[in-house]
Amino acid sequence: MSIVEKAADRLRQNDRPHAPDRSARQQSAAVPSQVAGTVVTAREEATADLSRTERVSIEAGHLRRAGLLAPKSMDNQLAREYQRIKRPLLATLTSGGSYGPIVHANRLMVASAAQGEGKTFTAFNLALSLAREKDHSVLLVDGDVLKPGISRALGIDGRPGLMDALRDESVPSSSLILQTDVPGLSVLPAGERCEEMAELLSSRRMNEVVEELSAEPARIVIFDSSPLLATPESQALALSMSQVLVVVKAGSTERRALEAALSLIDHPSRPTSLVLNQSRRGHGDLYAGYYGVYGGGKDSGETQN
Ligand SMILES: Nc1ncnc2c1ncn2[C@@H]1O[C@H](COP(=O)(O)OP(=O)(O)OP(=O)(O)O)[C@@H](O)[C@H]1O
Ligand SMILES: [Mg+2]
Repeated sequence: MSIVEKAADRLRQNDRPHAPDRSARQQSAAVPSQVAGTVVTAREEATADLSRTERVSIEAGHLRRAGLLAPKSMDNQLAREYQRIKRPLLATLTSGGSYGPIVHANRLMVASAAQGEGKTFTAFNLALSLAREKDHSVLLVDGDVLKPGISRALGIDGRPGLMDALRDESVPSSSLILQTDVPGLSVLPAGERCEEMAELLSSRRMNEVVEELSAEPARIVIFDSSPLLATPESQALALSMSQVLVVVKAGSTERRALEAALSLIDHPSRPTSLVLNQSRRGHGDLYAGYYGVYGGGKDSGETQN
């Protein structure tokens, strides 16, 4: 059974009603406490001039309204789902999994076929979850230069970022990284748009920038991206990535679209995983679930959950 067929099979299973999950209710809140406890909102910071010592505020209430975090009632469930999503990614990071050792495996792109399938939501929530890992830090890069959802929600749209470092070789990309008030999580804004974004993202300079951003092996660099089938930018971005996580929206992403998107980024030595997003379970809550590795590796297939 191909990974796409497995995804379709899982979708059918998810349509069946589930008993409410008692363990989910018993778990502690998923969003890190520091997310809930900040003083300055991201919206306020949109107009503030962040100096090197200031922190981008990850304020839960604002981010829920901005669609980067789910409603509070879903925190526990999503925390468990992101635990499952990140484990195989971390395994690939350390050992390469079925692909064998991968050079610079800490460069991860979150992609999807079409718009609105949950790339930005997934990139942000995965970044939060990975930032809680004791042995890793996370740099979340807004690689969706056309629709910089992360930069906008965090109030750092308009700050220099990825595109500025690509355009001007004298700008070290590391100097544009902003720390957040979540320990272990930093962000790089998308930066200023220009005509040649796809060309810049596939340039030699992009390799240099990604090299610099991911030089520290303990740092996981997560790139949000634009829809693969709608724009050339994300396909260009994929060229410098070592892992791609493709978001499949339950009941929405069409199989042919998914296959077309996967074919655009298919590479024999780059693990591509699928994550099923916004499936419904129990009382109609949305959740994200992990599917496994598509194509490539020696024994690709569904991971054990
Ligand atoms: N697992 C989820 N649970 C709850 N809400 C979600 C989930 N995934 C996505 N959403 C919501 O769906 C909407 C679209 O998600 P998002 O913006 O992440 O999609 P996208 O793929 O980045 O879209 P675009 O291609 O336009 O950038 C947002 O309002 C987001 O909050
Ligand atoms: Mg987005």
